[in-house]
Amino acid sequence: MDQDGFILQIRHISKSFPGVKALDDISINIRPGTVHALMGENGAGKSTLMKCLFGIYVPDSGEIILDGKPEHFNTSRQALDAGISMIHQELLSIPYRSVMENLWLGRYPKRGAGPFKFVDHKRMYRDTVNLFEKLNLDIDPRIWVMKLSVSKTQSLEIAKAVSYNAKIIIMDEPTSSLTEREVSSLFEIIRRLRGEGVAIIYISHKIEEILSISDDVSILRDGRHVGTYEAGTLTTDLIIKYMVGRDLSNRFPPRDNVPGKVLLKVDSLTSPRKDSFRDVSFSVRRGEIFGIGGLVGAQRTELVEALFGLRSVESGHIYIDGEEVTIKNPAQAKAHKMALLTEERRATGIIPMLSIKANMLLANLKRYIGPLGLINEKRGEEDTQKNIHALQVKTPSAKNKIRDLSGGNQQKVLFARWLLTQPDILILDEPTRGIDVSAKYDIYTIIIDLAKQGKSIIMISSEMPELLGISDRIMVMCAGRVTGILEGREADQEKIMRLAAQFM
Ligand SMILES: Nc1ncnc2c1ncn2[C@@H]1O[C@H](COP(=O)(O)OP(=O)(O)OP(=O)(O)O)[C@@H](O)[C@H]1O
Ligand SMILES: [Mg+2]
Repeated sequence: MDQDGFILQIRHISKSFPGVKALDDISINIRPGTVHALMGENGAGKSTLMKCLFGIYVPDSGEIILDGKPEHFNTSRQALDAGISMIHQELLSIPYRSVMENLWLGRYPKRGAGPFKFVDHKRMYRDTVNLFEKLNLDIDPRIWVMKLSVSKTQSLEIAKAVSYNAKIIIMDEPTSSLTEREVSSLFEIIRRLRGEGVAIIYISHKIEEILSISDDVSILRDGRHVGTYEAGTLTTDLIIKYMVGRDLSNRFPPRDNVPGKVLLKVDSLTSPRKDSFRDVSFSVRRGEIFGIGGLVGAQRTELVEALFGLRSVESGHIYIDGEEVTIKNPAQAKAHKMALLTEERRATGIIPMLSIKANMLLANLKRYIGPLGLINEKRGEEDTQKNIHALQVKTPSAKNKIRDLSGGNQQKVLFARWLLTQPDILILDEPTRGIDVSAKYDIYTIIIDLAKQGKSIIMISSEMPELLGISDRIMVMCAGRVTGILEGREADQEKIMRLAAQFM
């Protein structure tokens, strides 16, 4: 701590990328033993600021005072050695290595001496078990990371950040894919660390979460620092106002789509896996927004992946427009004019080194090839610009690599990719995950517009207000079974929760 009582002072930090001033003279002070939330719209500069603290980016100007001492990090290693660790927004683990190897990467325990030093696997295993016990995590240290669910992978990142015994832990959207239970155990860990004097810098788009866990809240807008507030003095509306720069009184656009005839019918679909979905039956009408609710682990993702031909089914039937169809792979699903926006953009979505434009046009290349096999550049450019504009993707140019976009803006590009395939049945798995409040509104508007054009929309969401806000009907699942289908008008949070936890 310095004489002002701060563990960390961020002073006048600025950082530009070609065409973007990502950070403009940011100064924020962090107190030890507190949770300091960082909020702002997609592309506001949150991750960039954290990467400056963690030695991934070198700021153009400004300084960092840690424990009263100016620090200049050129690598993450230096930041870690100085007592700062970070959980990244995107999952960075190496899939084909074990959990424990990922955890201790670059710092394996060794035994022996001199040239006869070996990795001490026994100790590595023991250390891992001890750490997981302390954190209340149920993961086998020996299995490959690729076998873990998204939520377990995220828990592993959290364990890794904690294992460095840092004074400051940066958490960039740590809960975006955790189950409810995992979120509450993360909050327990956070409270314990805070009690030990650790400062946590916490980034999230979930306002309720921020209000419940944080002590101070700093808000960024367009690379500038709007202000730092005591959490106790804030409300949801105030936070939105500071983030967006105006009041956003309606969080959902009016829903004026009119459902028509049944387009998709699913009858007793059952997974070959015992612990997955069973006997799932439902139908979705043209022009209908069909929500699927449930807790993480309800097998909703597995269900829609099976519908889209990414997973096999043991039995059951799928009908489109009254005719039975066979969907054994995504190509067949696409031929039936289905599209699926997946939950985990890093693993199944974006191609990081390609441009925004390429990522957007990818699922639909046929549309851009003319009769002589020539590429219709103009049409590709037009479609790209139109969608960048409609979804307000924040970028200086469509030629930029998608990996340089902020997390939420990457999600918008993926959304555009599937829109361009002009599907009849659009399946969305957590479409607004990591997306800020005002961009969410834009996405809801687009979903409702598509429904008005007669498309069928299936939307998995763990955000109750969102399910209730835009669904015509809501199917709730628990442990792989359908526990109820509610009319949107009759549904409320309590009814959904009761069905979601039916077998628990
Ligand atoms: N490596 C990079 N190259 C070019 N531009 C970048 C790079 N990293 C970030 N940017 C740009 O800087 C701005 C801030 O991005 P940043 O990732 O910090 O936003 P964020 O607040 O974390 O948003 P989100 O909530 O979507 O994660 C964005 O306009 C982004 O496109
Ligand atoms: Mg970010």
